[in-house]
Amino acid sequence: MTHSGTTLLAVNNLKTYFSTDDGVVKSVDGVTFHINKGETLAVVGESGSGKSVTSLSVMRLIPMPPGKIVDGEILFIGKDGVQKNLVNVSEAEMRKIRGN
Ligand SMILES: Nc1ncnc2c1ncn2[C@@H]1O[C@H](COP(=O)(O)OP(=O)(O)O)[C@@H](O)[C@H]1O
Ligand SMILES: [Mg+2]
Repeated sequence: MTHSGTTLLAVNNLKTYFSTDDGVVKSVDGVTFHINKGETLAVVGESGSGKSVTSLSVMRLIPMPPGKIVDGEILFIGKDGVQKNLVNVSEAEMRKIRGN
């Protein structure tokens, strides 16, 4: 029995901003994508377009401050099969999700 088609990661309208001396930098401003079980997603774009900040946001590795996830959701189904919004989970739980 396969589960192809199961969405393991769904990023909806993600917005990650940074506070700087020169104002707010909207590094990621409304990004939406999903990845199904067994899929690989390649993100392509010019330098500075927000690829790294998107990925670091999903892993909750953006330094806050100066960064902040200001909107959106990161829905992830982990090994326990339970879907969680990674925007909200505790740091302790994120460490479990990230692994070693
Ligand atoms: N800590 C930060 N403070 C302010 N701006 C940042 C910070 N980190 C990244 N940025 C800005 O966010 C934008 C996206 O950066 P990044 O995700 O690294 O781009 P990419 O990985 O696509 O080259 C860039 O304009 C970058 O300067
Ligand atoms: Mg990068």
